[in-house]
Amino acid sequence: MYYPTTRLRRLRKNPVLRNMVSETRVTTDDLIMPLFAISGKNVKNPILSMPGNFQLSIDLLVEECKQLFDSGIHSVLLFGIPETKDETGIIAAEDNSIISQAIKAIKKHVPGMFVIADVCNCEYTTHGHCGTIVNGDVDNDLTLDTLAAQSVTFAKFGVDMIAPSDMMDGRVGKIRNALDKYGYYNTPIMAYSAKYASAFYGPFRDAADSAPQFGNRNSYQMNPDNSNEAMREIELDIQEGADIVMVKPALSYLDIIRRAKDTFNIPIAAYNVSGEFSMVKAAAERGWIDEERIVKEILTSIKRAGSDIIITYHAKEFAKYIK
Ligand code: PBG
Repeated sequence: MYYPTTRLRRLRKNPVLRNMVSETRVTTDDLIMPLFAISGKNVKNPILSMPGNFQLSIDLLVEECKQLFDSGIHSVLLFGIPETKDETGIIAAEDNSIISQAIKAIKKHVPGMFVIADVCNCEYTTHGHCGTIVNGDVDNDLTLDTLAAQSVTFAKFGVDMIAPSDMMDGRVGKIRNALDKYGYYNTPIMAYSAKYASAFYGPFRDAADSAPQFGNRNSYQMNPDNSNEAMREIELDIQEGADIVMVKPALSYLDIIRRAKDTFNIPIAAYNVSGEFSMVKAAAERGWIDEERIVKEILTSIKRAGSDIIITYHAKEFAKYIK
């Protein structure tokens, strides 16, 4: 049946009906808010390239979590800015590391908050690379040991989920084994499976003080040219025991999200990264776009592409929009 019998505009005219036939709805249940923990007390350092985001000392991080929780955001992803750095990043695995303390404090004061720890070394190494350097490049297998140690420490302090973002081969299996060995078989792993070597991480590296001091991350993060390779990365992570797989960044990679959703029967997460956030903020500050409408449209597009979970710096404001 064709026009004039068929008229698709009929379903768009009435707002009630339009909502009834809506295919995608983002809710606060879908969202994870990234937060940055730093040592000290009453510290709130603004991250200039990411307006509204701060490096927070643990006392204020707890307050932020209370507010987020009350607004409907029930999950946070933690990144740490340590006082000192070392060659391998193993300091992150210490019992008094910044993230260990943050996990403990949030779980104590906001017990309902689902706390996810990013597991990587770049925030903790003097050189800013995601692992241990041997002959000018990140050594895969040595790095696995530091990632596993970090994961076990975070699990000991009650983290709800581990999210390895380093892109070493075999890290999901290594972390799964280590967690299981110490009895943390119920701690899920959300793997940054298809993580691309992207210019969209620029503002984050200021926020987390994690920019590589030499070279780039092209020898471990994925080439943005590739889609088939992303499917291999995801498949391997699933075989190694990932519970959730992630595509990162989100917006320039919606095709990868959709392909992953169609290929694998596993929850998919997408990371709406710092550069994607900052571009929206910069344009909104100039009055060039309607921020609220843009944010809703962006998050909807990521979900419509097939993502079940969205990690986004817009989470806090989005919760206010839909109240
Ligand atoms: C750590 C890590 C990065 C991000 C998340 N975990 C930075 C990077 O790989 O350089 C980026 C997050 C963002 O840009 O919002 N490896």
